[in-house]
Parts: sequence; C-alpha cells; structure tokens
Amino acid sequence: MDPNSYVEDRSPGTGRLRPRAAFATDVPAIALDGDWRFRLASGLDDLTGDFAAPDFDDTTWDLLAVPSCWQMTGLPREPRYGAPAYTNILYPFPVDPPRVPRQNPTGEYRRAFDVRDGFPASAAVLRFEGVDSAFAVWLNGIRLGDGKGSRLTTEFDVSTALRPGRNVLAVRVHQWSSGSYLEDQDMWWLSGIFRSVSVAARGVEDFFVHAAYDHSTGQGTLAVDVTAACGVSLSVPELGISAADPAGPYVIDSIEPWSDEQPRLYSGELVSDTGERIPLRIGFRTVSMVDGVLTVNGRPVSLRGVNRHEWHPLTGRTLTEDAMVADVLLMKQHNINAVRTAHYPPDHRFLDLCDKHGLWVFCEADLETHGFEPGGWRRNPSDDPAWREAYLDRTARLVERDKNHPSVIVWSLGNESGTGVNLAAAAAWIRRRDDSRLIHYEGDWASCAYVDLYSRMYIGVDELAAIGRGQEAPTADPADDAHRRALPFVLCEYGHAMGTGPGGLSEYQRVVEAHPRLAGGFVWEWIDHGIARLAEEQEPRAFYAYGGDFGEEVHDGAFVADGLLFPDRTPSPGLVEYKKVIEPVRIRIDPAARQLVVHNLHRIRDTGHLDFRWNAEDGGEPVGSGELKVPTTAPGATTTVEWPAEVAAALDAARENGSGDEVWLTVTAVLAADETWAGAGHEIAWAQGRVAASAAVPAPSASVPALPHNGHITLGPAQFDARSGQLIRLGGLELDGPRLDIWRAPIDNDLLNAFGEPQITDWLAVGLHRMRHEVLSVEPDAPGLTVTARLAAAGSSSALGVVYRWTAGDGPDAGQHRLRLECAVTPDGAWSVPLPRLGIALSLPGTDAEVEWFGLGPGEAYRDSRTAARTGRHRSTVSAMQTPYVRPQENGNRHHVRRARITTADGTLLITGDPVIDLTVRPWSTAALAAAAHQHDLVGDGRLHLHLDHAHHGLGSASCGPGPSASDVLAAVPTVFSVEFSTGR
Ligand code: GAL
Repeated sequence: MDPNSYVEDRSPGTGRLRPRAAFATDVPAIALDGDWRFRLASGLDDLTGDFAAPDFDDTTWDLLAVPSCWQMTGLPREPRYGAPAYTNILYPFPVDPPRVPRQNPTGEYRRAFDVRDGFPASAAVLRFEGVDSAFAVWLNGIRLGDGKGSRLTTEFDVSTALRPGRNVLAVRVHQWSSGSYLEDQDMWWLSGIFRSVSVAARGVEDFFVHAAYDHSTGQGTLAVDVTAACGVSLSVPELGISAADPAGPYVIDSIEPWSDEQPRLYSGELVSDTGERIPLRIGFRTVSMVDGVLTVNGRPVSLRGVNRHEWHPLTGRTLTEDAMVADVLLMKQHNINAVRTAHYPPDHRFLDLCDKHGLWVFCEADLETHGFEPGGWRRNPSDDPAWREAYLDRTARLVERDKNHPSVIVWSLGNESGTGVNLAAAAAWIRRRDDSRLIHYEGDWASCAYVDLYSRMYIGVDELAAIGRGQEAPTADPADDAHRRALPFVLCEYGHAMGTGPGGLSEYQRVVEAHPRLAGGFVWEWIDHGIARLAEEQEPRAFYAYGGDFGEEVHDGAFVADGLLFPDRTPSPGLVEYKKVIEPVRIRIDPAARQLVVHNLHRIRDTGHLDFRWNAEDGGEPVGSGELKVPTTAPGATTTVEWPAEVAAALDAARENGSGDEVWLTVTAVLAADETWAGAGHEIAWAQGRVAASAAVPAPSASVPALPHNGHITLGPAQFDARSGQLIRLGGLELDGPRLDIWRAPIDNDLLNAFGEPQITDWLAVGLHRMRHEVLSVEPDAPGLTVTARLAAAGSSSALGVVYRWTAGDGPDAGQHRLRLECAVTPDGAWSVPLPRLGIALSLPGTDAEVEWFGLGPGEAYRDSRTAARTGRHRSTVSAMQTPYVRPQENGNRHHVRRARITTADGTLLITGDPVIDLTVRPWSTAALAAAAHQHDLVGDGRLHLHLDHAHHGLGSASCGPGPSASDVLAAVPTVFSVEFSTGR
C-alpha cells in the first residue's frame, strides 16, 4: 500500500485521540515551539526516505520556527519556501476530489527534545494545535498516525513511544491533501505547523461545563461532566461549592450572568485525586430563541459584529497572544460586541479573551467548499456520503475543543459549502452533543433545514427590512417559508470593507434596530490580509502584497484586503465609522428645545458606567466645556435632559457676542472607570448639535475689473492665462487650474461587483477617465472673468458644459482680497451614468503642507460614510491626510469643509466653501493614484493636487454587496457651486 495514501484519502486521520476541550492544567507539559529542522520537498516524489529515523542526520537542514507558515519565511524580503498564494473561490489546482497534485510541497520537520526524569512519559499525549493541511507523525521512529483539519487540534497517544531522555519527533506536512477540498476559505493558501506543538501528561481527559441562567428566577445551574480515569472534585468558592461532585447539578440563587456587556466569570477549579488542578472560568448564560428573536438570558441580542480571520502581515495565520489581545481590545474599543470566527476555529486563546472581555462568538467549523460552485456544485463533498466522516470529524473537533466558552453562543457549520447530507449530519450531531447553543449556516438560507438562525450575506437594506418584517421573498416550498419566518435573522456578512468605504453602514444599522427579528450582523471583515514586503529599489520601500504579487497562476488580486483594520492593525476610516454607527448609547441634541436625549441601547447595562461631557465651540474655538449630569438611564430606556444653565449660558454668549460663526455643542459619553478593555475616559458615544448657523457672508462686490495685459489677465490678486483662462497666480502663490473634474481613482467598490456589472464598466464605456477639457472662450469684462469650457471624451457627443465666473473684491478683513469662482455645470446630451465626483482640481508647488480646516473631520469622510466625522477645527498635513489603502485608490476626502488653510513653503492658500466644499489634497495626481498598484508606487511629483468638490458619488460596498443607495448616487444634472480663494500668511 502507498504509505502516502493518507494524503488523498478522505479520512480525517488515523491514530488520533478523541477530541476534547482545550483547557489549562498544571500537569507537566513540554512546549515544543521553537526552531525545528526543516526541509521542503517539492512533492511526494522528493521525500526523504529515512527522515523519521531518530538517528537521521539533519544537521545540514535549515532551521524553521514552529509555529509558522512556511511560505511566510523570509518576508518581508523574498519568501524562502514556496510563496503565499491567494484565491477567493477557485481551488489553485484542478478540481478532482479527493485527488491533489503530486507536485505537493511537503515540509519535513524534525525536532529532538528531552524528557526529564519524573515526567510521566507512560501517560502522555502529543498535541498539535494547527497543521495545514495534512500531516503524518513519527516519534522515535514510530509512526503515531496522521491528521487533517488544519485549524483544529489533533492529539496522539505517546505513552508507548515517548521515553525518558532524548526523543525525536518527525512530522511530514503536505500543502495539499483531500482536506484542501474542505478548506477553500477566501484567504492565502499557507502551510505548515502554524500553531503550537506540545507534549503533555495525560490527566483528566475532558470536561463539559454546563452553566445556565434562568432570567425569570435569577438562578444559575451548574453541572460539569467530567471524563477522567480518577476521581475529580469541583470547587467554586464564590458559589460556596467546595470539593464537591462536579456533576451537581448546583442551583445557585442570584447568579450574575455572563454577557458581552458584563462578562462575569466565576473562578473555579477541578481537582483530581492524583492532584491535577484545572482552573475554570465559568460564565452562566442561556441562549434561546423566543418568538423568533435571538435572546441570551432572556434579553434580545443585537450583534454588532465583525468576521475575523486570523492574520498578521509577517506571520500569516500564526498569531502571538499579543496580536489576539490587540484584536479583542480594538474590537471592544470600537463598540464591537460580536465576532464570527470566519471561517474556522481560531487559536483557542482567542476565545479565552472573548470570555474575559465580553464578545459574543459565532464559532465556525473549518469548512468551505466554495470552489465547487463554479462547477454547479458537482461533486461537492457536502453532499457526498464518502465525506461524511470528514465532516463529522471537523464538527466534533470544533464543538469539543471550544464547548466550555461562555462567549460561544452559536456553532456555525462552516461557510459557502453548498448544501447536502453531510451538513445535515453535522447539525444533527451538534444537536445531540450540545443543545445549549444555536446552529448557524448561511448556505442553508432557503430551507433553513439544519439551522436555528436564518442567515444571509450582502443583501441590501430593502431586503433586510423585508426580512425584519417577516416578509422575505417566498421560496418554492411554503412549509420552508413558514419555518424560516419563525427564525431570528443574522446578517452573517455585510458592509464589505474593501478599499475606500464601506458606504451605507448606518442604513443597515437603522434597519437592524427597527426590527426585533434582526439579531444584527457581522461586517466583512476585520483585517486586511496584506503581506508585508520590501521593494528593494534604490532604497527599501515597504508595501503590502496581495493576490498576484507572488506570481500566482490564478488569483483574486486585492480582494484579500477587505478589512476594517489595515494589515498592521491600524484602524481604517471604515472602522471609525462602524464604531460610531453601532454606538450603544445614542445621544441626540435638540437645539430648539435646548434638550439632550439619551437612548441607552445596552441590553444589560444602565448608563451608570458612563460619564457625560459637553463642549461648546464657536467657529471651532472652544467657548466652554464641562461635565454633564445625565440621570442614569436603564437599558433600553431614553432620558431627556434640559441643558444645564452653564451650557445654555456658554452657548448664548457665543451666539450673542461671538464671531457670527457656527456654534456647536458636542456631548460625549465616556467610560467613568477603567474596564478590562479600555481606560476611564475612553469615548463610547457622542453627538453634535448646531446651535447657531454662521451669518451669511455676502459675495464680494464685483468691484475689480479684469485687465488683460501681455497674454495675462489680472483680476484683483489673481492672474490668469489669457488663452486658457487658467488661474496661474494668486498673490504670491503659483497655481495651476482649476478645471472641472469628475474622475476619481477608482475605488474597489467601483471596480468590482460580485453580483453584476461593476460601475467602472459604464464609466469607461462613456470615457469618464479620458475627458478632455476644451476652453471655448475667455472673456474679461467689467464684473470679472468668464471662461467657458466643455468637458467631453473623444468620440462622444455628450459633454458637460461649464462656465467659470471669476470675480474679485475686498475680503471681510481689511487689505484682504477675495477671489470668487462660481462654476455652472450643464450636462449636454445623454447622461445616464452617475459622475464619480463633481468639482474642480488645481495644483500648486509643494511636497507637503500644513492643512487646517473648519468642517467635518478629523478623518476621511464621504457622503455615505460620514457618521464618524464631526464639525470642528482640524489640523493635519497633506502626507497624514492620505489613507493608505493596500491598493491605492480615491481616499482622504474631508467632507463639508467651510474653510481651509493650506500652508506650503511658498505661502498660504485660503479656501472658503459656499457654504461647504469637499477637500482633498494629495502630493500626486489622480492619474498617478489610479495607476499605482501598491503604496510604494506613489511618489510625490513636487506639486500639491487640490480637489474641491461639490459632491462625490457614494462609496457603497459593491465589491461584494450593493452599490450606493439612490440618495447617494451623484447624477449629472445642472449644478452651480461656488468657492472662494485668497492668500494669507
Ligand atoms: C463571502 C465569503 C467570505 C469572503 C467574502 C468576500 O462570500 O463568505 O469568505 O469571500 O464573501 O470578501
């Protein structure tokens, strides 16, 4: 028999121990992480014959860190072993299950370790927490068995093979195996021993903590099913349980239940007769479905979640505990309360952190067979009984490993694996083993035969609202419809966070909050899976790689970079927006009624843990601030507060004595005391209300005539080219422009559409990317200068007519000259496509500049992603205003700017909107931005490119989901907008 047949057979493994919970214990263990000897064989015909022999000489082999993904070795410079490869749906090999290529990169790993005297070698297990994708193991030359299921724990009994003194472990890891067919998640294909390896004494086999909470009585019930060869007792001192029978059950009055908001854990301990001590962290909670609503502890749950892959830009799917902590803290700090472990069980330590800090978890099986969809799901393993054992194995290993986590409230059968008997069997298995949690699987959305939750991905808000009302479109079978309509609904993926965006998050949240059936959802996804690289040109320049950057034959490009975090875990504007959209306390300021309305959306907590603060600004200048007393508001309740006298006084004073500028009141809710996940003062929610509008500044009286002279036209402080009508100088500043501009460097949501034609198709078809600006006339006259132009693409008879009307006059301040531009745009001919943007572009010399503005900020904002931006005075620099999306694209817009001041080495340009303008400044042109494939391709050209936009087309999330909603579509219609320029110091 072929000794390597395990690679392609469908068996989940041989020689393994039955799966069990991951738990801490004080029985001796030997960590085997560290440097191992390693050799990468090119395939099954290139294996080292006697590599498992204890005395095999491996001294010439490389050293490789365990845990690691071997393709990540050598990065950010050249990968040393193979290379990462990215596909979303397609298998990177011909689909012929269970066969995989014979050219199957295979890592041969060896590691010697010592077993000290006294270590209970005669009863020990060897544990692999994650090996991708199939492996065989030898200890001291004895073959222990083999395994598959990359993101699952595999244990082997080593009681006969392990010996005191020197031991040699040899592991052969195959990149491809039959298991690869079940692991077609949208992510980099990476291989190796990527999670920890250890040898541990065998003590208590397993246990299952059952800790329920009865919200009607406040009682908790505790029972621990222990599997052990010896006697075991349970102690939970806080509950008065001391050295008792774990089986209980113990009914305890007045339990504090576990929830995302108050993750109360009771410390306990299992102690065996042999002296083994196992610490427990017990959370009491009961998950149920009540009248079609997902509840925990009797309260409806509203999931404000994210889909999380495990990712680090240098180590791939091998994460340190620090990275896991960073993820959990960042989630909690951004008001996220739920995580779907897409699409496999995470490192088990991550779930400990979810228990500790409070995140609801949908824990998902390591399963995806999406690559069968392009073939019409023909030969899909999900519906082939030959794969049944593999499915049940993965399911059992998921549930058994993670069953003791209170944070896990739902088991998910996997992702995008079609439908079939094996999924049905998996669900049935879970129901028998653990009836305390619900079952999720999106692929079963039509009949919901295996699941407890109706789940969909990437639907639009209208469909979501219909589902909320229980009126989703019927399917073929009325019985299915009736069954499904009785189920709570989960948006398991939405808000595709690829590139600039996503737009529209607030619309989803509004609908979710309006319908109890909607249990909320999970944004796709948490982090960009960019890979850190260094381009070695003259000097090393860092960038993040995506699909295709390693020469893959088939790949899905930048689709792997679609997270709310950049690869280095810096929050993107999308995450900042999401935090605001899902804030658990909603504050509304009612300037007319001089009231503040506080709506507490928490399910458990009142607002006692929050301090409220106010802050008033007049034109961005602080005019008062302080603490605000807001009566404690119960979960779900709303409190209305009159503005205290000091707030009213500050605002009245600003209004009456102030500058005539806008007066804003900002109210924030911050943590009153430290939580485990953020310190006191951390902001949770905020709102702004405009208390006074700015006094209208009259347009400059067109007091200055335009004077032609020597090929130039002078108009007050401005000089124009007499032929092109371009502004070439303003005061001491050299300028070039402005010209009407409608193009944006396409965002991913323009370029892609998972469900239809991308927006870019129409845009390119009508030539929006190659519009020509033809000046028709330049007419200096008494009231100023009028330039008439036409923007049109070669071959097209449609155009945008534009009339630039320049006037100049004295500014509001003595000696200040104002130059005003009124732009009148008139579509000519047929215009059926939306415009990417509508504004003007100009440039001035400079490589960087200080930028100060009064308007929305501090971050990037677009019309359908602007909830997180607040009105105020903001300061930044051009370089800091660029958002480094992994694939460069339109970014960095500052929305609704009233006025801005841009200071370069040459002087200061002042810009005033009428009343507002959108502002983008970049050290490179739109064309350069559009042409760049990675961040390091962007090189300043010595000019600052300024975009002053009347409006942008929305962002939407069409790269996988709906485009911008109708109100965020920028139609080509007659438009007039104005902006003023002046110079200053
Ligand atoms: C979903 C899938 C995810 C991811 C996403 C697009 O269909 O479940 O894994 O591929 O689309 O980024």
